[in-house]
Amino acid sequence: MSSLNPNPPSHVKNAKLIVWVADMAALAQPDSIYWCDGSEEEYARLCQQLVDAGTFRKLNPAKRPNSFLASSDPSDVARVEDRTYICSEKKENAGPTNNWMAPADMRATLRPLFEGCMKGRTMYVVPFSMGPLGSHISHIGIELTDSAYVAVSQKIMTRMGKAVYDVLGADGDFVPCMHTVGAPLAAGQADVKWPCNSTKYIVHYPETREIWSYGSGYGGNALLGKKCFALRIASNMGRDQGWLAEHMLILGVTNPQGKKYHVAAAFPSACGKTNFSMLVPPAGFDGWKVTTIGDDIAWIKPHADGKMYAINPEAGYFGVAPGTNFHTNPNCMASLDKNVIFTNVALTDDGDVWWEGMEQDGGGLPAHLIDWQGKDWTPEIAKATGAKAAHPNSRFTVAAGNNPALDPEWDNPAGVAIDAFIFGGRRSTTVPLVTESRTWMEGVYMAATMGSETTAAAVGQMGVVRRDPFAMLPFCGYNMSDYFQHWLDMEHKLEESGHTLPRIFCVNWFRKNEAGKFVWPGYGDNMRVLKWMIDRLEGKAQGVETMFGIAPLFDEITWTGLPFSAEQFKTVTSIDKAAWAEELTLHAALFEQLSYHLPQALIDTKAELAQRLQD
Ligand code: GTP
Ligand code: SPV
Ligand code: MN
Repeated sequence: MSSLNPNPPSHVKNAKLIVWVADMAALAQPDSIYWCDGSEEEYARLCQQLVDAGTFRKLNPAKRPNSFLASSDPSDVARVEDRTYICSEKKENAGPTNNWMAPADMRATLRPLFEGCMKGRTMYVVPFSMGPLGSHISHIGIELTDSAYVAVSQKIMTRMGKAVYDVLGADGDFVPCMHTVGAPLAAGQADVKWPCNSTKYIVHYPETREIWSYGSGYGGNALLGKKCFALRIASNMGRDQGWLAEHMLILGVTNPQGKKYHVAAAFPSACGKTNFSMLVPPAGFDGWKVTTIGDDIAWIKPHADGKMYAINPEAGYFGVAPGTNFHTNPNCMASLDKNVIFTNVALTDDGDVWWEGMEQDGGGLPAHLIDWQGKDWTPEIAKATGAKAAHPNSRFTVAAGNNPALDPEWDNPAGVAIDAFIFGGRRSTTVPLVTESRTWMEGVYMAATMGSETTAAAVGQMGVVRRDPFAMLPFCGYNMSDYFQHWLDMEHKLEESGHTLPRIFCVNWFRKNEAGKFVWPGYGDNMRVLKWMIDRLEGKAQGVETMFGIAPLFDEITWTGLPFSAEQFKTVTSIDKAAWAEELTLHAALFEQLSYHLPQALIDTKAELAQRLQD
């Protein structure tokens, strides 16, 4: 056994950190401790180590330079919402939408699991900044992990490395993020390609701002800067300090006159944030440009100049592979041409990657693949068994710098001023293509009552409609009703200080016809909806009042290059009163579940909506 030397390198001066690392090492008992410096050399070395261990396969450098494919254990493929806990002192502060256990009980549960959990492994000390290094909006985290896959992923997903210690200094604050795959190795025991444990715990202590994750190496369960820190812990920070941590993409949209707007949009997991943030305007939108600031998370703060400023706390994309192709998201495909870690996609015979949706790029289905579980895949097998070559939640991990549509301001420590918020779920019926709320209150209501069909991003049943308020159901780190109140309070706080509030829109790209086909073309054509929103901001589109906000008139949408009849427009925008009566019963059920601390204003808004439905 190599010596366990918790002594940090000389550039690490933070006393609290040094003590914590020593404590955690004593608990987890790794064979060694490795302090990551975030260098390119280190990244290459750890990737090679993962190749040697069989976790990574190096892809054909002629096809996909400096890129790797990891295949996870089939039991560890997505976030585990039923194993995710908000351990506040009081149950009411976690609220009815979060799993809860008293902190002392959870600590007692976790301690024996973490005892010796890193035996036979290295403990990586991963220093990272969520947001530009040193920005007043940013926060530092330190993740301790026994997964080299997590360490290299954090290099891509965050500002990771030595420079973090300069910001942290001797007494700076950080969020401790303790992670283990929960698979200690006995002396001489051979490792597996994807160690993990069938027992999983993703635990947050909001009062002490700590994260403890056990048993999974995948995505949001293991890359603790992302959902655990930047949403669940940060939403608590935001409530206490008067800002917002949201499951939102951030994009810039520049019109032909050169005027630029910024939009932040919340869609649930696997409902189109990455796609929308990289949108390529269709033919007929000459001079329009969309640029990406972020694709998943936004931290938004009111500023003295009367605007709300947003930063992307992340530095890379952990995006859904299936469905991504040169037609649906060309900027994303261009981002994936080199320096990518793929997880759970299929391997082609020439050492490249493949996933469902790529057949639309002209090549058709490949004759043979190795699927995400290492089995042979052919179109015949797929037809007979329905086997997917790539797991539906397979993902790519890539640095933002790879994105050709990256916004020049994406790394600006001050953030970008938000002009509009968009909320959208995946609904095959009921919710129209787009409406704008008449008031902040109505917008908050729309967001709070949003429903969406579940996707492969979380373990569980797929395709069932559930309420997903603000696309934050799995990510709000405190009581959801208090979160609604926090959003409502923003209006008064901002108006009192002379702010202009962003406008609020509600969208649904996912309506289907009787044949089960999407009726809205989506993807780049979502530009048509985005342009209508800009026209609304500029006072150029009058729209029409509906019971659910202001909707576009057919003639207010730019249809150049898309044959889309007024009849088709009706199928994506119509409001079916019977369906809405049913929808309101679902709002009522949500409000009943959230009755503790539910703002009265939301109940009143629901009554107004019900009244309009009657009229
Ligand atoms: P997370 O990373 O899980 O938070 O997801 P996301 O919201 O970034 O989702 P993403 O953009 O990766 O899209 C998920 C899936 O939705 C992909 O398979 C896309 O092809 C599909 N999708 C995205 N935009 C559209 C759209 O406008 N219309 C339709 N029909 N599908 C879309
Ligand atoms: C999501 O599920 O919303 C994601 C992927 O963005 S994960 O990082 O796994 O949470
Ligand atoms: Mn997400």
